[in-house]
Amino acid sequence: MTIYIPEEKLSDIRNTANITDIISERVVLKKAGKDHVGLCPFHSEKTPSFTVSSVKQIFHCFGCGAGGDVFSFLMKYEGIGFSEAVQSLARRYGIDLPDRNMSASQKKAVSLRQQLFDLNRQVMSYYSEQLSGRSSGQRARAYLEKRGFSQEIIAQFSLGFAPDGWDNLVRFFRKLNVSRTLVENTGLIVPKKNTGFYDRFRNRVMFPIFDVTNQIIGFGGRVLDDSKPKYLNSPETSIYNKSKSLYGANAARNKARETGDVYIVEGYFDLLALHQHGITNTVATLGTSLTAEHISALRRGFAQKAFLVFDSDEAGLKAARRSIALFMNAAMDAAVIVLPKGYDPDSFIFEFGRAAFEKASERAIGMVEFLIESSIKSNGLSMEGKVRVISDLQQPLLEIKDRVARSIYVKYLAERLNVNEAAIIEKIKSGEKRLNQTQPNSWLKHNNDKHVLSENEPLIESEMIKVEKQIVSMMLKSPEILPEIKKRRALDYFSDKRLIEIAKIVLEHPVYGDADLPGLMNRFESSDHKNMIASLVIEDECRDLPKCEQLLSQFINGIERRQNTLVSQIKSAQESNDQELLFELLRKKQEQSVNRLR
Ligand code: UTP
Ligand code: MN
Repeated sequence: MTIYIPEEKLSDIRNTANITDIISERVVLKKAGKDHVGLCPFHSEKTPSFTVSSVKQIFHCFGCGAGGDVFSFLMKYEGIGFSEAVQSLARRYGIDLPDRNMSASQKKAVSLRQQLFDLNRQVMSYYSEQLSGRSSGQRARAYLEKRGFSQEIIAQFSLGFAPDGWDNLVRFFRKLNVSRTLVENTGLIVPKKNTGFYDRFRNRVMFPIFDVTNQIIGFGGRVLDDSKPKYLNSPETSIYNKSKSLYGANAARNKARETGDVYIVEGYFDLLALHQHGITNTVATLGTSLTAEHISALRRGFAQKAFLVFDSDEAGLKAARRSIALFMNAAMDAAVIVLPKGYDPDSFIFEFGRAAFEKASERAIGMVEFLIESSIKSNGLSMEGKVRVISDLQQPLLEIKDRVARSIYVKYLAERLNVNEAAIIEKIKSGEKRLNQTQPNSWLKHNNDKHVLSENEPLIESEMIKVEKQIVSMMLKSPEILPEIKKRRALDYFSDKRLIEIAKIVLEHPVYGDADLPGLMNRFESSDHKNMIASLVIEDECRDLPKCEQLLSQFINGIERRQNTLVSQIKSAQESNDQELLFELLRKKQEQSVNRLR
């Protein structure tokens, strides 16, 4: 999807947008020298190798190689196109894009996603008007009041009310005069059997679901009585992905970052209750279980430690079993808070207050410990009981990729049961074998980040390419060398296609300072090229002109020498009539001349 964005607007945005601000709104960054570092949002890692340079206005990950400017970051992170990234930044910095100058077809092309966000916001206003409406919203207001929710929290979370009736929203949409496709895409109206649509949400308290950038991606709704289903949620749409979204994320983020902790609850009202009592670092899942995507988003953008709050041992156990490996593998600490029988976070905090909730979280225990203790509670410590405890823990321990962590838990389990550690390890290993038979790619072979990463990488990078990279890097940092590069036709000796393409553009459009970098990036469509440029400019090796010239000479002379050797080898192979060797040498020679021609 492309829309017309005038060049001067692009440079306005580029000059105004600060990549460090934009990225730190999405990823926790720490200052490191003049750069910022954090956990890479594009691959799984435990130690930060994701670097953002304010000076150069680029990002680069030393782990997975992702890199680029502020536009490429947004495109990759949000999964959006270039024009949408531009529009989003323009909005963020209050830069007007001239939509009046757009043609009809360009207007039509303005992203569907943005139109959906806008439409959802109008629906939110509609529902909230209905809630405050004198007669329409009265029962809903009374319901919220009965449950103890304050005006502030209702306003902060923009709660609303979907009135009773089948076509209130249908008529609202008709009045707005928006396209049918768009309306259907909200998921808020449902096609009837024959023709027409009816409202999905009727006679329900409405919860708009915001993403971290404060856009409304969907809605949830609760009935006012005991009828079923108690809750309804928007279906997944092009802007709403349940396994990525968490309710309350935008409201929880700052406090979570401040404290390093985030609470995870299961219900809309649980979340509102905790927020109302000042536990504002709380998010809620949306009728789905926690996914790896939720956890890694929380770990990267929110906090180091998660507290899962459950309303019973049983719910806690189930969730702990399911998500323990996800937390471990995302290197996120996780602890379980089990509330007294019959209470959920909402009823607990309204009855006992904030201090009691905080006390309960001080007593939270780590997930593995929780599993072990729960299993001991139900199986006892008889000999048979211990055997059952070990087999209960077999699978969860097996799923922990980090060997150090795993051995710590094995030790704890062994001590707790007073059983030989080796026996436990043996038991776990028996499960490991089973796992390997069914899954050839089990953690046994991939037990650390590095290994998984290297799968997509070439095994060894040749010395040659290393030097080519150094040369392009110095072309980017020391434009004084460019005439020499041209004169000596250095690119003719290059072997890496991507580097040749980048170097050619740099020759045409020299980079005289960091301010020129984003412009250079924009000349490339492929993210591969952007990644490469970012990686070349972010490393800090500096060379003065003589050093650059020296590197260049070494490179060219080295190749010439090798070529000369090749020529003399070919001669001697011809003389000794070694056909096989000759063939091989000629092939090499040909390869080199192809490179030289490129
Ligand atoms: P609960 O049934 O535990 O309800 O559902 P709750 O949150 O305590 O709600 P109240 O206090 O009775 O109002 C927990 C969460 O599971 C999802 C909702 O997200 C809900 O908040 N859920 C539950 C559904 O999606 N559909 C349902 O029918 C029930
Ligand atoms: Mn509840």
